[in-house]
Amino acid sequence: MRIKETAKFLGAVILISFFVSSRESKAIPLRGHNVVIGTAVDPAFLNEPGYAETISREFNMVEAENSMKWETIHPAKDVYDFREGDAIVKFAEQNGMVVRGHCLLWNLHVPEWLASESKINQVLHDHIDAVVGHYRGRVFAWDVVNEAFSNDGSLKASRWYDGETGTAYIARAFEWAHKADPSAKLFYNDFDAEVLNVKSDAIFAMFQDFKRRGIPIHGIGFQTHLNVDGLSIESFKANMARFAALGVEIHITELEVSVSKKSFPRQAAIYRAVVGACIAERACTAVQVWGFTDKHSWIKAGNGLLFDGDYKRKPAYAAVGQALSVAR
Ligand code: G3I
Repeated sequence: MRIKETAKFLGAVILISFFVSSRESKAIPLRGHNVVIGTAVDPAFLNEPGYAETISREFNMVEAENSMKWETIHPAKDVYDFREGDAIVKFAEQNGMVVRGHCLLWNLHVPEWLASESKINQVLHDHIDAVVGHYRGRVFAWDVVNEAFSNDGSLKASRWYDGETGTAYIARAFEWAHKADPSAKLFYNDFDAEVLNVKSDAIFAMFQDFKRRGIPIHGIGFQTHLNVDGLSIESFKANMARFAALGVEIHITELEVSVSKKSFPRQAAIYRAVVGACIAERACTAVQVWGFTDKHSWIKAGNGLLFDGDYKRKPAYAAVGQALSVAR
């Protein structure tokens, strides 16, 4: 009798584990929802167990977290180093993914050799020609200009900024990028501009001006680096709606939600709301997370991503899957 009961119990355990594991393996990956869903990647980790496998299973877009930035790709005036960027593009092409390029003009993380250059416009023009030209037809969207505005809505001081001419240096960068690859979608990318505020007002005014003057700017990247406070979804939606009305495409480009471990349910709710707001806005055409495993995040103890340090799905993963599964 005892043996019979034990056998029954073991049978039930085996049956339950079979259903649990087959449900896990049959779960629809994030890229299975007919929405462009991306992640930042670092090619240094592509050989690490779990890293490349998770990206190729879950995502259909990738962006170089650092590999296409000036200091990596253009380390000396006459030297371009495309090795890291090429590795990412090759990986994407092998796995049926599109590639976002990041970024062509930023006030930070530029190589030291630039400091002694006098003809800075020519240097920037050459850089855009070389980098966009190298990836012509293989990078479908570029963050042409990154983080040019301060949170008070003024233009940041930077080596690229000629204070006399306002956004003229930004417009020129877009024109050069468009010439180098007329098929690429060209984005302005920034943080803290997701909701209605003075910063997003200033960026919106630039888009209005550029659209009126025919400057080739196609999209706004909302970075969406969040913490446990999340953001006002109503204000985010209203902000997206005004850019959409201008005919501007929207990408969520660097999403993460930093929290303590006890706040994982709250983190999941924030992810669900943000991705849901994008899905509800027709002009929002891609969602991208800034890394996917807490093992490799620029915020070391932020627990901000969809998988834990062992590549296990967190509650936020299921929340994003649910948000993506809502029909558009
Ligand atoms: O590559 C070196 C490595 O050789 C060295 O051992 C290591 C020692 O610290 O440093 C490595 O470089 C670091 C690199 O990340 C790779 O880990 C750089 O010092 C560090 O500055 C760099 O930080 C990146 C940062 O941008 C600056 O470029 C972050 O990974 C990256 O997540 C962050 O991304 C930015 C977006 O581009 C724009 N929006 C904000 C976002 C977060 O700051």
